[in-house]
Amino acid sequence: MKGMIFNLLEDFITENYSDEIYEEIISKCNLKTQEPFVGPGTYPDEDLFEIIGNTVEKLGVSIEDALKAFGKYIIPKLAEKFPGLMEPYNNPKDFLKVIDNIHYIEVKKLYKDAEPPIFTFINPASDRLIIRYKSKRKLYSLVEGLIAGVAEYYKTSIKQIRTIHEVDGIEVGDFDITFLNPV
Ligand code: HEM
Repeated sequence: MKGMIFNLLEDFITENYSDEIYEEIISKCNLKTQEPFVGPGTYPDEDLFEIIGNTVEKLGVSIEDALKAFGKYIIPKLAEKFPGLMEPYNNPKDFLKVIDNIHYIEVKKLYKDAEPPIFTFINPASDRLIIRYKSKRKLYSLVEGLIAGVAEYYKTSIKQIRTIHEVDGIEVGDFDITFLNPV
């Protein structure tokens, strides 16, 4: 996973808790990486899961709630870091429809070795969108939080229903989103 995600996780913990708590969490982790995480670097997914695991243990929260909160936190940070990606859209549906392109064109341009998740879409009605997420990392609650963060960014209320199932023997997560304000 790219260093940018590790850096965002550190910011999430230090901004919501403290630098000391982050240091305490890191000191308990058994990390493969010994040097500091830098944005363009690529680090083992296991290190990210190790930090997340120790964070939820330290804070006494569920992994699902932690990932959802982290996802929600990330969106305004990404909007600030990549101003050209969210601003051209004025509603969450139009932006969400391009997230696969963002990961495979913009992110790949920036980080050749990125291994982003795969998103596909079904557009059953003007006020709905079904996003299918496929990744070996299975970060379903992170996706839920990111979707909620996107809705909040565009000041739109949504309802989302998540279904995890297998398609051709591969686990996927379907996020069926209804946009409650007009989009
Ligand atoms: C400005 C918008 C965005 C940018 C620039 C961006 C960028 C990135 C980058 C750089 C990674 C790391 C990839 C790697 O290490 O191989 C990543 C991972 C990820 N992104 Fe995004 N992202 C954006 C929006 C979104 C949105 C809106 C969603 C979901 C609705 C999303 C879902 C994910 C997930 C779940 C991962 C973790 C990797 C995985 O599950 O396999 N991203 N993204």
